[in-house]
Amino acid sequence: MTMANRQLKFHILRYNPRDIASVPRMQTYEIEEADGMTLFIALNEIRERQDPSLQFDFVCRAGICGSCAMMINGRPTLACRTVTKNLGLETTLAPLPVFELIGDLSVNTGKWMRQMSERLETWVHEKAGAVDISRIEAPMDAGLAEQIYELDRCIECGCCVAGCGTARMRADFVGAVGLNKIARFRLDPRDTRTDADYYELIGDDNGVFGCMSLLACHDVCPKNLPLSTQIAYMRRHMAATGWKQEKP
Ligand code: SF4
Ligand code: SF4
Ligand code: FES
Repeated sequence: MTMANRQLKFHILRYNPRDIASVPRMQTYEIEEADGMTLFIALNEIRERQDPSLQFDFVCRAGICGSCAMMINGRPTLACRTVTKNLGLETTLAPLPVFELIGDLSVNTGKWMRQMSERLETWVHEKAGAVDISRIEAPMDAGLAEQIYELDRCIECGCCVAGCGTARMRADFVGAVGLNKIARFRLDPRDTRTDADYYELIGDDNGVFGCMSLLACHDVCPKNLPLSTQIAYMRRHMAATGWKQEKP
């Protein structure tokens, strides 16, 4: 005897901010669960068979591009890495807060990330004239390269920002994603910036001192980045830098 597949209900927050007639509302869709179904597959099935107007984002379907993050039963998570068998019969989906809403489950994380990156200058600042493409690049210590790689795994999905109380209160807070990026460039021996330079970027309430250390970011990061240790580490270094600057 074969067991009947489960009937799943998805309650989805619908709203199109570009349509003046649109008002935020919950809409329920029902589909039959299939083997190995992910939320990506479920949402595509809803869009293809029931409602072509439903907006959501996916690119890689493999937890790499970061575009499918949404609130799944109130928790920021990647939809493409969420299998429906781990969900109950009823699931609530909403767009990530903090980011500009494009429509329904689609938000503009790219705009937020770009502003944060430009503000924190998240690129290697080499010495003037140090770039010489004819020169063989100096090898980096393997252990250090590994440490940098660990922090570079961030996919800019925005889950840490959506789960962050400070980011909800302060529009200019750089989030755990921004603090992690500074920690990454601070490790990089090619970057000539000093702690005094980093203090200028994150030594205030929109940076590491605005963080309340409740670590929702660490709990929700789908790439399991070591955000709690990086934030504590940066706070220690920035506090020491600020203290030195204040001494006459
Ligand atoms: S730190 Fe983690 S949760 Fe935050 S943007 Fe990067 S991958 Fe996403
Ligand atoms: S620990 Fe800091 S960055 Fe992480 S969620 Fe809390 S306030 Fe935001
Ligand atoms: S679709 Fe790329 S991370 Fe989910």
